[in-house]
Amino acid sequence: MKKYIYSLCLLGVIVYSCKTQTATPTATTPTVSTAISTATANLTKEEILKKGQDLFNLKCGRCHGLPSPSEHTIADWQPIMASMAPKAKLNAEETNWVLAYVNANAKK
Ligand code: HEC
Repeated sequence: MKKYIYSLCLLGVIVYSCKTQTATPTATTPTVSTAISTATANLTKEEILKKGQDLFNLKCGRCHGLPSPSEHTIADWQPIMASMAPKAKLNAEETNWVLAYVNANAKK
């Protein structure tokens, strides 16, 4: 009988811990990462802008005409890049380079 009560308690603990684990929802809001790796830290501003420009010309005119960075303000580019970066399959670092390029040439 004692054994039975023990295992019942144990089961309760297991079920409870499982419940608390699955109860934490993960945030999935798309944000442009601002993480800068050591590779980027070693680049000059000119090199970053050049990489951003090359990627932009290469990746951003495939589905629609190549947009002009000066078509949008810096504030507009942030959400646009957040939605376009996954479409263009850019990683966080490449996204930052392209963002740096469009921001440098954005509508004032
Ligand atoms: C896989 C296809 C695809 C790729 C690659 C792509 N785009 Fe787009 N883009 C779209 C589609 C579809 C739309 C229109 C619908 C939307 O806004 O989601 C769009 C819309 C836009 C717009 C207009 C948004 C507005 O609010 O006026 C801009 C600017 C833009 N893309 C920039 C880019 C840039 C910069 C890149 C490269 C990083 C890129 N796109 C790569 C598919 C793509």
